[in-house]
Amino acid sequence: MEILAIIGQKGGVGKTTTALGLAVEATRRGCAVAIVDLDPQATAANWSDRREDKESPAVVSCQVARLSQVLEAAKQQGCKLAIIDTAGKSTDAAIAAAKAANKVLLPIQPQMFDLETLHNVREILTLAGSPTAVVVINRAAVQGRRHEETQEAAQAMGFTVSPVVIFQRAAHGDAGNIGLTATEYEPKGKAAQEIAALFDYINNL
Ligand SMILES: Nc1ncnc2c1ncn2[C@@H]1O[C@H](COP(=O)(O)OP(=O)(O)OP(=O)(O)O)[C@@H](O)[C@H]1O
Ligand SMILES: [Mg+2]
Repeated sequence: MEILAIIGQKGGVGKTTTALGLAVEATRRGCAVAIVDLDPQATAANWSDRREDKESPAVVSCQVARLSQVLEAAKQQGCKLAIIDTAGKSTDAAIAAAKAANKVLLPIQPQMFDLETLHNVREILTLAGSPTAVVVINRAAVQGRRHEETQEAAQAMGFTVSPVVIFQRAAHGDAGNIGLTATEYEPKGKAAQEIAALFDYINNL
């Protein structure tokens, strides 16, 4: 089972939105997937409650101390991918998630406040045994090239940076409100295309 952890030291950068988007994309491609929600705010689990199809993707609310057992159960139940969503505030959860994962996704917004957090994230990754990790720019403005500057800055800090950028698109929030992802809400939209491209990029890492 592949394990993708989504971590970051800042709130509201799109960790949960990305986790849900990638999980639904995996489901659409026929991959059995579980989302392991380590956030005490349970944003992913609450999203699943709002969903008509509550089973797919499966969302399990989990405490850090139970992470390995929950991942093992997902594997036993035939999951081929587990996506761990974490809270921005908990370093312990981020370390545990990154340690359990074979790939780590680091969403950041294209701004200096977010770039600054990457120093701490690097320490977390080191403590977790340096898993494959990639920064993805989320909520990029459609106009301007701030996202490119942020990509360059993250690269200069020694991070691998996804060439796929997730732009600020209303479909993400509108979909989340009703327990969907942008891909389900607007299948032919740009948000859907970007999530699919990010899924492919991560898959090929
Ligand atoms: N690409 C995007 N375009 C538009 N809105 C977005 C995008 N990504 C995230 N959002 C919105 O930004 C807000 C925060 O996103 P999200 O909850 O995914 O962040 P988070 O990193 O999981 O936050 P937390 O640290 O609180 O768990 C939500 O309202 C979400 O709908
Ligand atoms: Mg979240």
